[in-house]
Amino acid sequence: MSNMQTEEELERRKLEEALEVKSLRRIISAYLNYPEAAEEDVKRWERSFRKLPPRHKALLSHLPSKFQKLRWCIAQNSYFIFEMLKVFEPPLDMSQDIDNCENQHLDVVSDSHHSSRSRNPCLCESTSTSGGVNCHSLAEPISEETCNGKFPAPTNVNEEQDIDISKKSIAGKCSISLEDHGSANNICGDGCKNLPDRDTLYASACCNGNVSSSSPDWLDPSLQLHVPLVDVDKVRCIIRNIVRDWAKEGQQERDQCYRPILEELERLFPDRSNENPPACLVPGAGLGRLALEISCLGFACQGNEFSYYMMICSSFILNHAQAAGEWTIFPWIHSNCNSVSDNDQLRPVSVPDIHPASAGITEGFSMCGGDFVEVYSDPSQGGVWDAVVTCFFLDTAHNIVEYIEIISEVLKDGGVWINLGPLLYHFADMYSQEDEMSIELSLEDVKRVALQYGFIFEKESTIETTYTTNSRSMMQNRYYAAFWTMRKKTSATL
Ligand SMILES: C[S@@+](CC[C@H](N)C(=O)[O-])C[C@H]1O[C@@H](n2cnc3c(N)ncnc32)[C@H](O)[C@@H]1O
Repeated sequence: MSNMQTEEELERRKLEEALEVKSLRRIISAYLNYPEAAEEDVKRWERSFRKLPPRHKALLSHLPSKFQKLRWCIAQNSYFIFEMLKVFEPPLDMSQDIDNCENQHLDVVSDSHHSSRSRNPCLCESTSTSGGVNCHSLAEPISEETCNGKFPAPTNVNEEQDIDISKKSIAGKCSISLEDHGSANNICGDGCKNLPDRDTLYASACCNGNVSSSSPDWLDPSLQLHVPLVDVDKVRCIIRNIVRDWAKEGQQERDQCYRPILEELERLFPDRSNENPPACLVPGAGLGRLALEISCLGFACQGNEFSYYMMICSSFILNHAQAAGEWTIFPWIHSNCNSVSDNDQLRPVSVPDIHPASAGITEGFSMCGGDFVEVYSDPSQGGVWDAVVTCFFLDTAHNIVEYIEIISEVLKDGGVWINLGPLLYHFADMYSQEDEMSIELSLEDVKRVALQYGFIFEKESTIETTYTTNSRSMMQNRYYAAFWTMRKKTSATL
């Protein structure tokens, strides 16, 4: 390579890293902005209440106390978020100067970042702008070849974490009102009895822009960005995803989506051994529960995920949970719509429902951060996996044909692809992004393409399920998800 090419390459990498730092700062800022944005909602509801004529107010005299309870719940959610951020180890130098890139592609990337999912932020949490690859292992360090290892030093899910959280405090733009928010027991009875009291909560979580000397540098308020509300919506979606993956309440959804996949894996690999476990890849692993369950079944399982929103949270739960039920969150407080009762809306949810480190994972469990297409189209990934499991993932593609092609390539001959999910194409409604590619095929076409890539259908059915749905809501969106098992033909029969 000539000197000029090397310099260009270096320049390109620097720009990519700056883009990624900016994207990550934005995601962290979205998390830090959560309390402020949630407080704004409560203030809005209070303003509406104040506009009521006295006779109507008299009928709804319980609402002011509900608003105070909501504030208290927001503070609890914020506490969880700040605890999560405090232990996050950014894979990049967050203090680096990214100003030089401001006028290059950064803004374009940022825009595409938040315009995605503008109609439904829960459908997709975009991530690494440069398609960078980050890896952290949950059971043993992952090899660099697998994931180019840009992620934080591998952390071991079995390791005792020794983190003195009392010495750390989060800096940022959050501000939690210090009005009397009532006590936990007033709000939710026994369900909240282990929650920290308000003073502890604020001492630990609240910041009002003050930087404690023990805060991680990258949480310095000067590095925080002002983010649009749609970014904070993504934080709320993560909170709902926590219920799906890591709460008792999510069991029903997990039974609908994850259980059929796990049963299928058991059926297909009856002779698994811990000495030589079959290798299973889970692209779009979300918060990691399915990947963990597959690992516990006796597979060397790797989850792949490209959203830092997701990775920050899954890493916290997988690596830092000390016990089941360690934290209490209030996932349903952000909407007053379709509530049967205020108690339903204000109900606490304990997380995690299991202690991940004690769940019985199989050696080789890891989460690999990065874009599925970039990471797994690498030739080193060819024919590596015995099984690929996609759950609510296929429709995240710009080009679903490319996903199918890569799935076929990474599977060993005779390997299996289990898929469960709808075809709610994530890039289908990107009106503002003229050149955002989105190939939107019918189920029939998807299956036809799969046959072209050497797959043979072994099983097919439809599964009725919800996705991150509030089980007590008066509105329940249902999917009739395609569920299939396909096997990649051996080369001889291709
Ligand atoms: C609808 S969620 C499903 C999550 C999980 N499988 C579940 O069933 O709960 C889709 C996930 O895929 C991730 N994702 C989307 N595009 C991706 C890509 N190109 N590479 C890796 N992950 C991706 C998203 O960040 C999101 O976490």
